[in-house]
Amino acid sequence: MDLTSEGGTLCLNRDAPWDSFDSQSYTRHNYSVLRPDDEEIINVVRDYFADHFRTNPERPVSGIDVGAGANLYPALSLLPWCDEITLYERSARNAAWLRDQVPHYGRSWDPFWQVLRKEEEYQDIADPRARFADSVTVEEGDLFRLPHRLRHQGIGTMFFVAESLSTSHREFEGAVAAFLGSLAPGAPFAAAFMENSGGYLVGTELFPACEVDSAEVEASLEPHATVDALERFGLPEGPVREGYTGMILACGRRDPA
Ligand SMILES: C[S@@+](CC[C@H](N)C(=O)[O-])C[C@H]1O[C@@H](n2cnc3c(N)ncnc32)[C@H](O)[C@@H]1O
Repeated sequence: MDLTSEGGTLCLNRDAPWDSFDSQSYTRHNYSVLRPDDEEIINVVRDYFADHFRTNPERPVSGIDVGAGANLYPALSLLPWCDEITLYERSARNAAWLRDQVPHYGRSWDPFWQVLRKEEEYQDIADPRARFADSVTVEEGDLFRLPHRLRHQGIGTMFFVAESLSTSHREFEGAVAAFLGSLAPGAPFAAAFMENSGGYLVGTELFPACEVDSAEVEASLEPHATVDALERFGLPEGPVREGYTGMILACGRRDPA
Protein backbone atom coordinates (compact mmCIF):
# COMPACT_ATOMS: atom_id res chain seq x y z
CA MET A 1 0.00 0.00 0.00
CA ASP A 2 1.29 3.45 -0.91
CA LEU A 3 0.38 5.99 1.76
CA THR A 4 1.71 9.15 0.17
CA SER A 5 -0.09 12.41 -0.37
CA GLU A 6 1.04 12.62 -4.01
CA GLY A 7 -1.23 10.35 -5.99
CA GLY A 8 -1.29 7.46 -3.47
CA THR A 9 -4.18 6.18 -1.39
CA LEU A 10 -5.93 8.81 0.69
CA CYS A 11 -5.65 7.88 4.35
CA LEU A 12 -7.32 10.23 6.80
CA ASN A 13 -6.39 10.42 10.45
CA ARG A 14 -9.41 8.40 11.55
CA ASP A 15 -8.46 5.59 9.11
CA ALA A 16 -4.98 4.79 10.47
CA PRO A 17 -4.44 2.04 13.09
CA TRP A 18 -3.20 4.26 15.94
CA ASP A 19 -3.96 1.69 18.64
CA SER A 20 -1.63 -0.76 16.86
CA PHE A 21 1.29 1.70 17.03
CA ASP A 22 4.19 -0.39 18.37
CA SER A 23 5.65 2.05 20.90
CA GLN A 24 8.60 -0.18 21.84
CA SER A 25 9.63 -0.72 18.26
CA TYR A 26 9.22 3.01 17.44
CA THR A 27 11.29 4.27 20.36
CA ARG A 28 13.95 1.58 19.89
CA HIS A 29 14.30 2.46 16.22
CA ASN A 30 14.25 6.25 16.55
CA TYR A 31 15.51 7.13 20.03
CA SER A 32 17.62 4.30 21.48
CA VAL A 33 20.66 6.49 20.71
CA LEU A 34 20.88 10.25 20.38
CA ARG A 35 21.28 11.04 16.68
CA PRO A 36 23.12 14.20 15.51
CA ASP A 37 19.96 15.60 13.86
CA ASP A 38 17.93 15.25 17.08
CA GLU A 39 20.84 16.80 18.99
CA GLU A 40 20.85 19.81 16.68
CA ILE A 41 17.09 20.18 17.11
CA ILE A 42 17.37 19.97 20.91
CA ASN A 43 20.09 22.67 20.89
CA VAL A 44 17.82 25.08 19.04
CA VAL A 45 14.71 24.32 21.13
CA ARG A 46 16.59 24.61 24.44
CA ASP A 47 18.12 27.98 23.52
CA TYR A 48 14.84 29.28 22.14
CA PHE A 49 12.89 28.47 25.31
CA ALA A 50 15.69 29.77 27.58
CA ASP A 51 15.85 33.07 25.65
CA HIS A 52 12.07 33.41 25.74
CA PHE A 53 11.84 33.00 29.53
CA ARG A 54 14.78 35.34 30.08
CA THR A 55 12.76 38.18 28.53
CA ASN A 56 9.35 36.89 29.75
CA PRO A 57 10.21 35.69 33.25
CA GLU A 58 6.66 34.80 34.33
CA ARG A 59 6.77 31.12 35.17
CA PRO A 60 6.01 28.33 35.97
CA VAL A 61 3.44 27.82 33.27
CA SER A 62 1.49 24.77 32.17
CA GLY A 63 2.86 22.94 29.13
CA ILE A 64 1.67 20.45 26.56
CA ASP A 65 3.30 18.00 24.17
CA VAL A 66 0.77 17.11 21.49
CA GLY A 67 1.04 13.64 19.92
CA ALA A 68 3.81 12.72 22.36
CA GLY A 69 3.97 9.16 21.06
CA ALA A 70 6.99 7.27 22.34
CA ASN A 71 9.37 10.25 22.49
CA LEU A 72 10.21 12.03 25.75
CA TYR A 73 12.67 14.67 24.61
CA PRO A 74 10.08 17.35 23.68
CA ALA A 75 8.56 16.98 27.17
CA LEU A 76 12.02 17.09 28.77
CA SER A 77 12.63 20.42 26.99
CA LEU A 78 9.58 21.81 28.85
CA LEU A 79 10.73 20.78 32.32
CA PRO A 80 12.33 23.99 33.70
CA TRP A 81 9.43 26.19 32.65
CA CYS A 82 6.42 24.18 33.82
CA ASP A 83 4.73 23.06 37.00
CA GLU A 84 2.46 20.77 35.00
CA ILE A 85 2.94 19.12 31.60
CA THR A 86 0.26 17.23 29.67
CA LEU A 87 1.33 14.56 27.20
CA TYR A 88 -1.65 14.44 24.85
CA GLU A 89 -1.80 11.34 22.68
CA ARG A 90 -4.38 9.56 20.56
CA SER A 91 -2.99 6.02 20.57
CA ALA A 92 -3.98 3.90 23.59
CA ARG A 93 -0.77 1.94 23.21
CA ASN A 94 1.44 5.04 23.18
CA ALA A 95 -0.48 6.50 26.13
CA ALA A 96 0.18 3.26 28.08
CA TRP A 97 3.89 3.43 27.13
CA LEU A 98 4.03 7.06 28.32
CA ARG A 99 2.27 6.23 31.63
CA ASP A 100 4.84 3.53 32.18
CA GLN A 101 7.69 6.02 31.66
CA VAL A 102 6.35 8.80 33.90
CA PRO A 103 7.32 7.42 37.36
CA HIS A 104 10.92 6.65 36.34
CA TYR A 105 11.80 7.20 32.71
CA GLY A 106 14.32 4.91 30.97
CA ARG A 107 18.08 5.51 30.94
CA SER A 108 18.17 5.92 27.17
CA TRP A 109 16.78 9.46 27.70
CA ASP A 110 19.81 10.54 29.76
CA PRO A 111 21.93 11.60 26.70
CA PHE A 112 19.01 13.78 25.57
CA TRP A 113 18.88 15.41 29.01
CA GLN A 114 22.65 15.99 28.88
CA VAL A 115 22.18 18.14 25.77
CA LEU A 116 19.43 20.14 27.49
CA ARG A 117 21.67 20.58 30.55
CA LYS A 118 24.04 22.80 28.58
CA GLU A 119 21.66 25.65 29.53
CA GLU A 120 21.66 26.75 33.16
CA GLU A 121 17.91 26.52 33.82
CA TYR A 122 18.08 22.82 33.02
CA GLN A 123 21.15 22.37 35.24
CA ASP A 124 19.11 23.80 38.13
CA ILE A 125 16.98 20.65 38.08
CA ALA A 126 18.89 18.28 40.35
CA ASP A 127 16.71 15.23 39.70
CA PRO A 128 14.98 15.41 36.28
CA ARG A 129 13.30 11.99 36.80
CA ALA A 130 11.64 13.12 40.01
CA ARG A 131 10.63 16.44 38.43
CA PHE A 132 9.22 14.62 35.40
CA ALA A 133 7.25 12.22 37.63
CA ASP A 134 5.85 15.16 39.66
CA SER A 135 4.80 17.35 36.76
CA VAL A 136 3.76 15.07 33.88
CA THR A 137 0.25 13.74 33.22
CA VAL A 138 -0.69 11.58 30.24
CA GLU A 139 -4.02 12.26 28.60
CA GLU A 140 -5.47 10.12 25.84
CA GLY A 141 -7.30 12.12 23.21
CA ASP A 142 -7.63 13.40 19.67
CA LEU A 143 -5.89 16.70 18.92
CA PHE A 144 -8.76 17.61 16.59
CA ARG A 145 -11.00 17.53 19.69
CA LEU A 146 -8.76 19.18 22.22
CA PRO A 147 -10.73 19.90 25.43
CA HIS A 148 -11.29 23.59 26.32
CA ARG A 149 -9.40 23.23 29.60
CA LEU A 150 -6.21 22.49 27.58
CA ARG A 151 -6.50 25.57 25.37
CA HIS A 152 -4.49 28.09 27.40
CA GLN A 153 -1.16 26.38 27.81
CA GLY A 154 1.86 28.59 28.50
CA ILE A 155 4.26 26.58 26.31
CA GLY A 156 3.92 23.71 23.85
CA THR A 157 5.69 21.21 21.63
CA MET A 158 4.48 19.02 18.79
CA PHE A 159 7.09 16.79 17.16
CA PHE A 160 6.57 14.84 13.94
CA VAL A 161 2.79 14.77 14.30
CA ALA A 162 0.91 17.17 11.98
CA GLU A 163 2.51 15.78 8.79
CA SER A 164 2.60 12.21 10.17
CA LEU A 165 -1.06 11.62 10.99
CA SER A 166 -2.69 11.38 7.56
CA THR A 167 -2.03 11.92 3.84
CA SER A 168 -4.27 14.99 3.80
CA HIS A 169 -2.81 18.50 3.52
CA ARG A 170 -6.05 19.82 4.97
CA GLU A 171 -5.59 17.66 8.07
CA PHE A 172 -1.93 18.75 8.26
CA GLU A 173 -3.02 22.40 8.37
CA GLY A 174 -5.84 21.54 10.79
CA ALA A 175 -3.44 19.75 13.13
CA VAL A 176 -1.06 22.74 13.16
CA ALA A 177 -4.01 25.05 13.89
CA ALA A 178 -5.27 22.72 16.65
CA PHE A 179 -1.82 22.62 18.27
CA LEU A 180 -1.53 26.41 18.21
CA GLY A 181 -5.08 26.56 19.56
CA SER A 182 -3.84 24.81 22.70
CA LEU A 183 -1.60 27.79 23.51
CA ALA A 184 -2.30 31.08 25.28
CA PRO A 185 -1.50 34.27 23.33
CA GLY A 186 2.25 34.91 23.43
CA ALA A 187 3.08 31.33 24.50
CA PRO A 188 6.27 29.95 22.94
CA PHE A 189 6.29 26.69 21.03
CA ALA A 190 8.55 24.32 19.13
CA ALA A 191 7.16 22.14 16.37
CA ALA A 192 9.09 19.62 14.28
CA PHE A 193 8.16 18.05 10.96
CA MET A 194 9.50 15.33 8.68
CA GLU A 195 10.22 16.83 5.27
CA ASN A 196 8.63 15.10 2.26
CA SER A 197 7.64 12.02 4.21
CA GLY A 198 5.93 9.29 2.22
CA GLY A 199 4.52 7.37 5.20
CA TYR A 200 6.31 5.24 7.77
CA LEU A 201 6.47 1.71 9.11
CA VAL A 202 6.27 1.11 12.86
CA GLY A 203 6.89 -2.56 13.54
CA THR A 204 4.82 -4.16 10.81
CA GLU A 205 2.17 -1.43 10.57
CA LEU A 206 2.27 1.31 7.91
CA PHE A 207 1.27 4.84 8.98
CA PRO A 208 0.34 7.71 6.67
CA ALA A 209 2.16 10.98 6.06
CA CYS A 210 1.64 14.13 4.10
CA GLU A 211 4.55 15.54 2.08
CA VAL A 212 5.49 19.02 3.31
CA ASP A 213 8.46 21.34 2.86
CA SER A 214 9.64 24.40 4.81
CA ALA A 215 7.44 26.81 2.85
CA GLU A 216 4.32 24.73 3.60
CA VAL A 217 5.26 24.46 7.28
CA GLU A 218 5.70 28.23 7.51
CA ALA A 219 2.44 28.88 5.66
CA SER A 220 0.55 26.56 8.06
CA LEU A 221 1.88 28.39 11.13
CA GLU A 222 1.64 31.99 9.98
CA PRO A 223 -2.14 32.52 10.28
CA HIS A 224 -1.88 31.73 14.02
CA ALA A 225 1.64 32.52 15.17
CA THR A 226 4.80 34.57 14.83
CA VAL A 227 7.58 32.30 13.59
CA ASP A 228 10.92 33.34 15.14
CA ALA A 229 13.03 30.50 13.74
CA LEU A 230 12.53 28.03 10.92
CA GLU A 231 15.36 25.60 10.30
CA ARG A 232 15.84 22.65 8.04
CA PHE A 233 18.12 19.82 9.10
CA GLY A 234 19.63 17.47 6.53
CA LEU A 235 20.48 13.86 7.18
CA PRO A 236 24.11 13.82 8.39
CA GLU A 237 24.02 10.08 9.18
CA GLY A 238 21.52 9.14 6.50
CA PRO A 239 17.82 8.76 7.15
CA VAL A 240 16.62 7.00 10.29
CA ARG A 241 14.27 5.20 7.90
CA GLU A 242 13.39 5.30 4.20
CA GLY A 243 11.16 7.91 2.69
CA TYR A 244 11.88 11.46 3.87
CA THR A 245 14.43 14.12 2.96
CA GLY A 246 15.14 15.98 6.20
CA MET A 247 13.58 17.52 9.28
CA ILE A 248 12.10 20.98 9.78
CA LEU A 249 11.93 22.80 13.10
CA ALA A 250 9.82 25.88 13.78
CA CYS A 251 9.98 27.94 16.97
CA GLY A 252 7.65 30.83 17.61
CA ARG A 253 4.89 32.40 19.69
CA ARG A 254 1.12 32.09 19.51
CA ASP A 255 -0.56 35.25 18.21
CA PRO A 256 -3.41 36.87 20.15
CA ALA A 257 -6.71 35.31 19.02
C1 LIG B 1 5.25 9.95 14.05
S1 LIG B 1 4.57 9.82 15.63
C2 LIG B 1 5.44 11.10 16.52
C3 LIG B 1 5.61 10.74 17.98
C4 LIG B 1 6.51 11.67 18.79
N1 LIG B 1 5.94 12.98 18.97
C5 LIG B 1 7.89 11.79 18.25
O1 LIG B 1 8.45 12.90 18.30
O2 LIG B 1 8.51 10.81 17.83
C6 LIG B 1 2.94 10.55 15.44
C7 LIG B 1 2.16 10.55 16.73
O3 LIG B 1 0.93 11.28 16.55
C8 LIG B 1 -0.09 10.59 17.26
N2 LIG B 1 -1.39 10.98 16.70
C9 LIG B 1 -1.90 10.65 15.51
N3 LIG B 1 -3.10 11.22 15.33
C10 LIG B 1 -3.35 11.93 16.45
C11 LIG B 1 -4.45 12.73 16.87
N4 LIG B 1 -5.53 12.92 16.10
N5 LIG B 1 -4.40 13.30 18.09
C12 LIG B 1 -3.31 13.11 18.89
N6 LIG B 1 -2.24 12.37 18.54
C13 LIG B 1 -2.26 11.78 17.33
C14 LIG B 1 0.26 9.14 17.04
O4 LIG B 1 -0.40 8.26 17.90
C15 LIG B 1 1.77 9.16 17.23
O5 LIG B 1 2.11 9.04 18.57
